[in-house]
Amino acid sequence: MPQSLHSGSKGRAGPAVIRTISALRNALSRARGKGESIALVPTMGALHAGHLALVRLARRRANRVVVSIFVNPAQFAPNEDFGSYPRTWQADLAALAKFSVDAVWAPSVATMYPQGFATRIVPGGPALAGLEDAFRPNFFAGVCTVVAKLLLQVRPDIATFGEKDYQQLKVVTAMARDLDLPVKIVGVPIVREKDGLALSSRNAYLMASERAVAPTLYRVLKDCAAHLNAGAPIATTLAEGRAQIKRAGFVVDYLEARHAETLAPIAALADGPVRLLVAAKLGRTRLIDNIAV
Ligand code: PAJ
Repeated sequence: MPQSLHSGSKGRAGPAVIRTISALRNALSRARGKGESIALVPTMGALHAGHLALVRLARRRANRVVVSIFVNPAQFAPNEDFGSYPRTWQADLAALAKFSVDAVWAPSVATMYPQGFATRIVPGGPALAGLEDAFRPNFFAGVCTVVAKLLLQVRPDIATFGEKDYQQLKVVTAMARDLDLPVKIVGVPIVREKDGLALSSRNAYLMASERAVAPTLYRVLKDCAAHLNAGAPIATTLAEGRAQIKRAGFVVDYLEARHAETLAPIAALADGPVRLLVAAKLGRTRLIDNIAV
């Protein structure tokens, strides 16, 4: 019964895969009619333990869990990796079956963006903080447009987003608030490898030698946070951090200390809560990370 959500019994085959808006509406209206709460976990697939932490939290917070898998062309620039972005559909479904996910919402590009599609959400506020937006100019418009559509398609009670993409979490939270979307956006802490590297679908691009130095990003974030907490000045701490990342072989896009909620620049720790955010390229792979100070 691909058009209904599974009942939650053990030993079932896996989540229902839903590919059309009408099938999604049918499946969800049945759940909603029974008074069940719904959680949405938006992803682009290539699922790893970071995504699954979002699913686990969603599972705890709602009766029904919908995971969307949609590699969103609108958030990739022409020079970025839309064509080569990892697609691991069978493994994704198997992983989601283990977490008793009820449905996978997997629209085609033509279903998400039909002929004549002409409306975009262009966010301000945290989307103009001068972090990811400075290096990926149309990224947050692409993210907000697809996330708004996903939220309106599924109409979940809650939606989970990772702190891994910290600016994205703040942008989506602001969008939901500003547009009065009736959903609670829930942030989930970053899941890391044992050596500290934040899990990312793009880690698969790293060569062995790059993978070995990739945890430098997290080490430098922790060093900087420790220095700041010990009273070191922000500007010199960040300058030294950037130099360390460069010495490890990265090209640094940014390493910044920002207000954890507004993402505005801060002059002193007392202006916080403070979040350190970094983005850097290792060969052709761009990595991002962040921590609380
Ligand atoms: P994607 O990169 O697939 O990430 C989906 C969700 O998983 C995001 O909320 C992201 O922050 C979270 N995530 C990724 N790695 C994580 C980690 N190591 N720990 C915790 N959470 C992690 O982000 C997107 O897709 C897209 O922009 C999307 C929101 C789906 C819109 O297209």
